[in-house]
Amino acid sequence: MRLWLFLHFFGQILWLGAGLGSMVYGIVGKQESGAALAAIARGQVAVHKLLIGPGAFLMILSGVMLSLQMYGSAMSGMAPTVWMMVMQGAGLLGALIVLAFGMPTIARLGRVSPEGQTAALYQAIRKRHVAISIVSGTLGLLALLAASFPLR
Ligand code: HEM
Repeated sequence: MRLWLFLHFFGQILWLGAGLGSMVYGIVGKQESGAALAAIARGQVAVHKLLIGPGAFLMILSGVMLSLQMYGSAMSGMAPTVWMMVMQGAGLLGALIVLAFGMPTIARLGRVSPEGQTAALYQAIRKRHVAISIVSGTLGLLALLAASFPLR
């Protein structure tokens, strides 16, 4: 139980913390061009692969394990609070969006050069990734907000 709770907290740091950091990197990167922009994109790709993606996966895994343990304990038979349902629903949806759409899009961005002929394509993929991240990040933060209210 304690291990899954720790992994639940750790997953939040990885996904939401690294996500906000990557967002700042992206905003700063808008003023850059050429080789600097390519280097920033490489950094963002690495942060997604090493931190954000694993963090989102950890949130699903630890969340499901905590839920199974909770419903199998003295809580079974008790109705979950609305905050618990918001955390589970928003967290699950946000994490799935990261894994199904965010990760493939950032991986594509890493393969396209921001310079030359592919500059317009690079910007289109970047905008798509920003939109995906806004939706998934907002859902993650909504889950965090809900988790600050009584869950039981
Ligand atoms: C970004 C997404 C999420 C965030 C930020 C989040 C946040 C939290 C936090 C802060 C706690 C500890 C609350 C406390 O100790 O009072 C918690 C507990 C818990 N979370 Fe999440 N959570 C997320 C996603 C999920 C998902 C997807 C599930 C289930 C599928 C889930 C199931 C649970 C359960 C069962 C507990 C334990 C409640 C208890 O034992 O009192 N969470 N979560």
